[in-house]
Amino acid sequence: MKKKCLVVTGGGDCPGLNAVIRAIVKRADMDKDWEIWGSYNAFNGLLESPIRLMRLDDTAVAGIHFKGGTIIGTTNKGGPFNWPVQLDDGNWQAFDVSDEMIKTMQKLNIQAVINIGGDGSQAISQKLYEKGVNIIGVPKTIDNDLSSTDMTFGYQTAVETATQAVDKLVTTAASHHRIFILEVMGRGAGWIALNAAIAGGAEACLIPEIPYRIDNLTKLLKTRSDGKSGFAVIVISEGAKPVGGEQAGYIANEPGYENFRLSGAGHRLAYELQKTGIAADVRVSVLGHLQRGGIPIAFDRILATSFGVKAFEMVLNQEFGKMVSYKYPEFVSVPILDAIKYYNYVKLDSALIHTARGIGMCLGE
Ligand code: F6P
Repeated sequence: MKKKCLVVTGGGDCPGLNAVIRAIVKRADMDKDWEIWGSYNAFNGLLESPIRLMRLDDTAVAGIHFKGGTIIGTTNKGGPFNWPVQLDDGNWQAFDVSDEMIKTMQKLNIQAVINIGGDGSQAISQKLYEKGVNIIGVPKTIDNDLSSTDMTFGYQTAVETATQAVDKLVTTAASHHRIFILEVMGRGAGWIALNAAIAGGAEACLIPEIPYRIDNLTKLLKTRSDGKSGFAVIVISEGAKPVGGEQAGYIANEPGYENFRLSGAGHRLAYELQKTGIAADVRVSVLGHLQRGGIPIAFDRILATSFGVKAFEMVLNQEFGKMVSYKYPEFVSVPILDAIKYYNYVKLDSALIHTARGIGMCLGE
């Protein structure tokens, strides 16, 4: 009987997930001892009744490398350590059902798991590893906020989408002599914002790592547009906040989801600017999930494919409890624990920040 390796995609979707899945299947096909299965909607496929797994063979993964999303589905809710159950009184309560899930995996002869996900998913990988599960992590997120790897796949596609949005806003801003604010994703890290701002030639960029002062922005904006001529584009990360202020958002009231949902940074900034009496009209565009959907660019397809090949080779080498990592120009394995220990912020002394300052971009400091 063949050994089963279970593939899981967890957290927010991300361009390149399908390319990882396809590469795992193709690499596994070279080793006749293994077959690959996918769990629907992260680990939920194992936790639901009836169980929902999908056999991932050559036919299932044919031609999926350029498709967005994930053919096995994903979710950022629930999971084995936080499984929401509706009680008789209608309220929801989360339970740790990891032991039951591990027993199910044993019954199904699942001997290895490849968990493709960001920091939340890799925290689950680490806990399962500590409970004896043979698990490998693959770093995924458009936010690029996972440490221990030079980059995550999906991030460069998100930067490309955000840059195209800046390009489009520049033409409408210039025609109307307006100030445009583009809010992009990234959670607590400013990677997408800063890269798109540099690539698109934005005048200002506000990121979570540098709390902004509205005066510093208005000084610049007054020199850029008087409402009759000139224009400006500001890229703001969803996690940006003013000096002394908090991130904009709300507690998501969804069973199994405990995260603070970032929302409103762009509109708050527009309000703050208008309060200063700035002459130009201010408009806000929120790019949102457009950054997560759609086809991955070539760079991400290649990175994702390399991650998939390396992940299955780590299964063969029994490098469990480890995550695939891109350390240019190599693909190596690192402890999952290291990857989740530190958050990958944009470093203030990095070349990227130096470049932004070097072209006179206002970072709100
Ligand atoms: O982590 C990826 C991400 O897209 C973040 O950039 C964003 O804050 C969050 O997920 C949005 O989550 P949801 O899909 O639940 O709205």
